[in-house]
Amino acid sequence: MTAKVLDGKALAGETEAQLLERVEALKAKSGGKTPILATILVGDDPASATYVKMKGNACRRVGMESVAVELPAATTTDELLAKIAELNANPDVHGILLQHPVPSQIDERVCFDAIDLTKDVDGVTCLGFGRMAMGEPAYGCATPQGIMRLLEAYDVEIEGKHAVVVGRSPILGKPMAMMLLQKNATVTICHSRTRDLPALVAQADILVGAVGKPEFIRAEWVKDGAVVVDAGYHPGGVGDIELEPLLERASAYTPVPGGVGPMTINTLIMQSVESGEKSLA
Ligand SMILES: NC(=O)c1ccc[n+]([C@@H]2O[C@H](COP(=O)([O-])OP(=O)(O)OC[C@H]3O[C@@H](n4cnc5c(N)ncnc54)[C@H](OP(=O)(O)O)[C@@H]3O)[C@@H](O)[C@H]2O)c1
Repeated sequence: MTAKVLDGKALAGETEAQLLERVEALKAKSGGKTPILATILVGDDPASATYVKMKGNACRRVGMESVAVELPAATTTDELLAKIAELNANPDVHGILLQHPVPSQIDERVCFDAIDLTKDVDGVTCLGFGRMAMGEPAYGCATPQGIMRLLEAYDVEIEGKHAVVVGRSPILGKPMAMMLLQKNATVTICHSRTRDLPALVAQADILVGAVGKPEFIRAEWVKDGAVVVDAGYHPGGVGDIELEPLLERASAYTPVPGGVGPMTINTLIMQSVESGEKSLA
C-alpha cells in the first residue's frame, strides 16, 4: 500500500485563492475595507518572529491587512493586557494573534483569555475552547482546526475510529482531542505520564503526534493502514513521528514540511476573513 499524502500546502494554496475572492467581494461591499489581523510578538525569539512574519505575508496574499505589534522582551502581563484591550476596542481590528510562547514573566493564559471572543481567530481562549467542546460556534484553535480541515478535504473517515492524540497542550493536543470527539471518534489522549505509549499508539486508526520531540513516535508502534498526522516540526524537516517507514504502511500521512504547518496559518487567515465578513458585510 502506498499512503495517500495529506497535502496541506496544496489545500492551503487552493483555499487562499478562494479567500482572495472573498476579500475582494468584501472590499466591494464595504467601500474598500478589508479584514485586519493584529499580530502581537513579544520579545525577540527568532522562530516566533519568523512565524509572525509568515502570518503577515499570508494576510497580504489574500488581500487583507495585518498590523504588526512588537513588544519588548521585558513586557509585563499588565502591559500586554493593556495592548490587547486596545486592540479589542479597535473596531478596525477583526482578529488578534498573540504569538505563543510569550516570555516567562508573562501570564500567557490570562493574556490569551483577554482576547475578545469575536476576535479570537487563533482559537486560544478558554471560552472558545469550551464552546467548541460543547459543539457551539467558536473559532477553532488554528493547528488542530487546520488538521480537521485537512482530514475532511481528503475524506478521512473519523466517526467510530480510534484516534490517539499524543500530547495535551492547550493549543494542540487538548483541542485536537475535543475536535475528533466532536466528529464521533473514540479518543485516547497520551502525555508524559502515560504508561506503555507504544501499546496505545498501536491501537490508533488515526494517530496525531504533538509531542515536540523529533521522531519520538516510532514507526514500528504504528499499525498498518493508520492515518498518520504529524504536527511536529523540527530543523531538517523532521516531525514528531518517524515517517519514512510509514510511507508504505500507513493509509494516509501528513508530510513534514507541507502538511500541518501550512494549514495552521491558512486556518488563522480563513478565520480572520470570516471575522472581517461578520463585522464589515
Ligand atoms: N505546525 C504547526 O503549526 C505547529 C503549531 C504548534 C505546535 N507545533 C508542533 O507540535 C509539537 C507539539 O507542540 P506543543 O506546543 O503542543 O508542545 P508542548 O506544549 O511542549 O506539549 C507537548 C506535549 O507532549 C507531551 N509529551 C512530552 N513528552 C512526552 C512523552 N515522553 N510521552 C508522551 N507525551 C509526551 C507533553 O505531556 P505533558 O502534558 O504531560 O507534559 C505535552 O502534553 C511541536 O513539535 C511543535 O513544534 C506545530
